[in-house]
Amino acid sequence: MKKLNVTVIHDAPLKDHRGSEKPDACVEHVATALSNHGHRVTPYAVPDDARGFIDGVMDTRPDLVFNLVESFGNNMTMDMHVGALLELMAVPFTGADPGGLFMAQDKVLTKKLLQYHGVKYPQFLTFASDRIETGGNIRYPLFVKPARADASLGITEASLVTDFKSLIERVHYVHETFGGTALAEEYIEGREYYVSVIGHLNPRPLSLVEMDFSGLPPHVPPVASYDAKWNARTRAYKGTKAVIATDLSSELAARVQAAAREAYLALQARDYGRVDVRVTPGGDVYVIEVNPNPYLARDAELAMAAEHSGIPYDDLIRQIVEFAWKRRRERREGMLPAQPQVAVHRKDPADKDRPAEKAAEKAEKVAEKAAEKAAEKAEKVAEKAEKVAEKAAERAAEKAEKVAEKAAEKVAEKAAEKVAEKAAEKAAEETLSKA
Ligand SMILES: Nc1ncnc2c1ncn2[C@@H]1O[C@H](COP(=O)(O)OP(=O)(O)O)[C@@H](O)[C@H]1O
Ligand SMILES: [Mg+2]
Repeated sequence: MKKLNVTVIHDAPLKDHRGSEKPDACVEHVATALSNHGHRVTPYAVPDDARGFIDGVMDTRPDLVFNLVESFGNNMTMDMHVGALLELMAVPFTGADPGGLFMAQDKVLTKKLLQYHGVKYPQFLTFASDRIETGGNIRYPLFVKPARADASLGITEASLVTDFKSLIERVHYVHETFGGTALAEEYIEGREYYVSVIGHLNPRPLSLVEMDFSGLPPHVPPVASYDAKWNARTRAYKGTKAVIATDLSSELAARVQAAAREAYLALQARDYGRVDVRVTPGGDVYVIEVNPNPYLARDAELAMAAEHSGIPYDDLIRQIVEFAWKRRRERREGMLPAQPQVAVHRKDPADKDRPAEKAAEKAEKVAEKAAEKAAEKAEKVAEKAEKVAEKAAERAAEKAEKVAEKAAEKVAEKAAEKVAEKAAEKAAEETLSKA
């Protein structure tokens, strides 16, 4: 593909204990991969005011923005607005659109969408400041967390509750610490997998990564708590590691991947995403959450899964850029953005085995492939046209230069002639007057 000006936007770095400010390592990783592909890269730390953001990004003259932003001005729920500004600025950008970022951030809305797509999720209750909602019977143990948060904020051993008193205490803690709605879900006992998915119109699930909790002491609940993710000195961190999942049957792995792919489509993730699932000992697959634009460092779970699926890191970054670059034409031509076709309304997962549903699924796949091929062809034609246009412009410019040169020569000749004439006249006059 052609070489682009790529602006890598990212969160403003926080000061570390030495007072130095360095962006997250991920920025460097992505920037290096882009440079390796010959793109011109400008990393850009997003300021905390909208005007500064717009001017700052525009000053970098981006063909494409690589969006690594997770917050805006310290607010972790405002990454979607950054996406919205980019959309208004008509700059193509990687990853989910603002709607996708919004839907996945709300864990309750996520469940409602998963239900339509026939993907299992833990049953739940919500506790807003003024009302409690539940969809039906739910059983202890429960797991309590903020309904809109990320990065395991508010998730500790105490999130797992087994009675009413501890449930209410934990809900109170979430209200006091984070505000907003507290979510209590049925606790899903079982193994935990991170399923990375890449692509847009026809997304592809990658190798499974398992959260291996076997290093935790037996009385500690096997969950990816805040400490397990971020505090290197804690036993939770030391006892938890992400590994390539090896010991599940291919049938189960395929079901886990299919659920993750469906969840990715349901939440309108784009380009790259990670779906966190739990699988019960009986083999039921529950989606815990969908992460659009997940952490993309070289050593993150997504890169790990890609590598194991035969996509080295630099290639992964290249593919993400290509998915986003393909969308630019829709924008240019004022079309509505292309959406993946999710033709079958799969309310009951058992329906999948019925002949009509099977046929529909097949048709869907065929249609997807055809659409993909057509898109690819169109892309190639457009690229060729672009090149032809570039060459024509170059030739026209050359011609114009030559014409200009000739014109300049003529003008210079005429001017020189006139000057010579005048000089001759003067000389003649002088000779006459002398004579
Ligand atoms: N219903 C649940 N059952 C079992 N474990 C859960 C449940 N919900 C969350 N967890 C545990 O907590 C972790 C973080 O929860 P998650 O909803 O993914 O929050 P975050 O958005 O902060 O990553 C999960 O990776 C999992 O280990
Ligand atoms: Mg998670």
